[in-house]
Amino acid sequence: MGNPLFATKPIDVLMREAGDTSEHSLKRALGPVNLVTLGIGAIIGAGIFVLTGSAAALYAGPAIMLSYILAGVGCVFAGLCYAEFASMIPIAGSAYTYGYATLGEFIAWIIGWDLILEYAFGAATVASGWSSTLVAFLQDYGISIPPEICDVPGAVWVQVDGRWAPASTVMMRVQDMAALPHATSKFNLLAFLAIIAVTTILIIGIKESANFNTGIVFVKLAAVLTFIAVAVPFVLKHPALAHDNWRVFLPPNEGSFGSFGWSGVLRGAGVVFFAYIGFDAVSTAAQEAKNPQKDMPIGILGSLIVCTILYIVVSGLLTATVHYSRLNIGAPVSLAIRETGVKWGSYVVNAGALAGLSTVMLVMLLGQSRVFYSMAHDGLLWKWAGDIHPRFRTPWKSTAVVGVAVAFVGALVPIGSLGQMVSIGTLLAFVIVCGAVWLLRIRRPDLARPFKTPMVPLVPILGIIVSLGLMAGLNGVTWLRLIIWLLIGFVIYFTYSVKHSKVRGALK
Ligand code: ALA
Repeated sequence: MGNPLFATKPIDVLMREAGDTSEHSLKRALGPVNLVTLGIGAIIGAGIFVLTGSAAALYAGPAIMLSYILAGVGCVFAGLCYAEFASMIPIAGSAYTYGYATLGEFIAWIIGWDLILEYAFGAATVASGWSSTLVAFLQDYGISIPPEICDVPGAVWVQVDGRWAPASTVMMRVQDMAALPHATSKFNLLAFLAIIAVTTILIIGIKESANFNTGIVFVKLAAVLTFIAVAVPFVLKHPALAHDNWRVFLPPNEGSFGSFGWSGVLRGAGVVFFAYIGFDAVSTAAQEAKNPQKDMPIGILGSLIVCTILYIVVSGLLTATVHYSRLNIGAPVSLAIRETGVKWGSYVVNAGALAGLSTVMLVMLLGQSRVFYSMAHDGLLWKWAGDIHPRFRTPWKSTAVVGVAVAFVGALVPIGSLGQMVSIGTLLAFVIVCGAVWLLRIRRPDLARPFKTPMVPLVPILGIIVSLGLMAGLNGVTWLRLIIWLLIGFVIYFTYSVKHSKVRGALK
């Protein structure tokens, strides 16, 4: 008998599980439109609305467009691999399940544990971004929320010209700042409540969640399209300004790796990669899709392609409208639209960003609870995490526990480095999924593959290379945190999972 650490879950068992339609199983309610909007719901968020500005200002200049192309192409390679698996093994566990079927239990555990970084930490990061966007948005209408409940404990806020803002974002001398009214935050109640609200919707039902998501996705697409519709005529009417802003498309490197020049484009790609995260979350809804064989590739690749095109256009227009050196701010897209003089446009963009971030939280939490559900089903996590609510047909216990935990993380932990943790966790999953597609082609060429990744092994290899390259661009602290996180996971695996694993049980 082989080493049980590398025991794989038989594909035929997975297929049987995918075919279960009893009341203890997830409900197959989603069609292709739901799946594409689920992807867009998860993808468009803080990345494009917030991070693009600082990435252009600090690393790449107008060439941030190239960073978007680079990160987008890398994601398409990984997306093609996800599409093959999601149509072949339509189970809620996504990369975790694909790893279990090909690389064995231990690697599957690593992916499952690693996906927490992507989904749970991702939702917490976006919750923080959502609360600062809400505060800024309400202040546009003269409504102030007490800073004590808008940020993590200990964060200092100052009031400048009647508006509250985190001191860390206000550019001013410390002595001048000390003279301003200030307050210290105690608990980010806004982020907390946002996560709880989204969790409640997720518990009530998959169809309800998908409908909520679809409605809001149209609002955020409207915001992005409004920006494009306003910025294109502006640029055409002011060619001299646009020409001036783009005169130095790729600013020369300033002496260190990552500050402009080609290395800046690479670092920029590492940062804006965050903007693409989420298309893979569609695969966690595979067990809730009506026709996963056909619709999963449509959902994953359709949402990814739509967002890639929009991102390239938006980042180009952003730097053509406003000089990149002015973009290191929290709401760059809304600044750019204000520059065009179309005031209502900035309200549409802000409302779209606010609405848009809520669906990112929704789909991330959906993904997290589905991965837990699958792991519990396999005996690697506690049994209760796999319980399905008899009426709502959702994994309500894991959704609730994940929701409350993420709400606390979002309310208490500063987001500074959470974002990079999310990226490294996601990239690690991409590497493993790309490798697994290739491996399974060799080991089980006989399996029916409703969607086939083209040019195997070239596409998986390119997916691995681009993902590792983006991981290499992330800083040492992030790597260290990843290692510590995985070590914590090993403790749970060796103390609990090995004793309860169903696959191991069947080997005895
Ligand atoms: N892609 C998601 C965002 O940009 C995580 O918010």
